[in-house]
Amino acid sequence: MIVVEGLHFSYDGREILRGVDLTFGGEILALVGPNGSGKTTLAKHLNGLLKPVRGRVLVDGMDTRRHTVAELSRKVGYVFQNPEHMFFEETVFDEVAFGPKNLGIRGEELEERVRWALQAVGLEGFEERTPYSLSGGEKQRLAIACVLAMKPKYLILDEPTSGLDGKAEKSVVRTIRTLREEGHGVLLITHDMDLVLELAERVVLLFNGRELFEGSVEEFFELELEEYSLELPELLELAKGLGAGFVRSVEELMEVLG
Ligand SMILES: Nc1ncnc2c1ncn2[C@@H]1O[C@H](COP(=O)(O)OP(=O)(O)OP(=O)(O)O)[C@@H](O)[C@H]1O
Ligand SMILES: [Mg+2]
Repeated sequence: MIVVEGLHFSYDGREILRGVDLTFGGEILALVGPNGSGKTTLAKHLNGLLKPVRGRVLVDGMDTRRHTVAELSRKVGYVFQNPEHMFFEETVFDEVAFGPKNLGIRGEELEERVRWALQAVGLEGFEERTPYSLSGGEKQRLAIACVLAMKPKYLILDEPTSGLDGKAEKSVVRTIRTLREEGHGVLLITHDMDLVLELAERVVLLFNGRELFEGSVEEFFELELEEYSLELPELLELAKGLGAGFVRSVEELMEVLG
């Protein structure tokens, strides 16, 4: 369990997080909110990259102020919003192998981890490429693979599908589902409301550094989303227009409509 209590944080004296409380376990939790609302800043507290000015963050009971990022990264994997600058190995294989190697994994098991992680994001066959030669979307997927290969208990994905084509997005969605089934918790930061509808089990809405809403996906989509620069998914617009109420997929809508 990750527990955030009364978290305050400031950049250069400007208060960015103003008392955030959050509990996050083994589910898929969507963290949404307009640009600049503090989502990434909050996420960086969950693996200790940033330390609270006031309040605290506990990862399975570990206070992030008393543990290093290296220690915390065994539990919390963080895929950055813009991962271009995080690669430093010569090949894709070595890049993905770096994390598990640091955990002491070698030989067959290491190969297996790397293969599994690359396959999960649809990058099999890219092993010998240099990370810098990849396209934007491929880099995004490589960044996800690097974190997956560590098999952290909690995963933070900051805009994991921005810039991905339909096929790559599907493979990321499948991966998130698999992780959930395997008992990992996934914190999904996204502006893509279709993704929230498709995947999330709970939603937290951040606005001006405060938690404005926390609840089920159904309750979330009853909010006036335009006020928060967010949009209702087309599927729900359609369902509303047809008087069908809340549905999570086209199949469900068809069923409701008979
Ligand atoms: N290193 C920094 N130094 C100073 N201010 C920063 C820094 N990083 C972020 N901020 C500011 O903190 C606020 C919150 O930024 P944050 O990146 O957490 O927003 P976000 O909700 O992730 O937005 P987006 O949807 O655009 O990714 C913004 O006003 C941003 O300009
Ligand atoms: Mg952000």
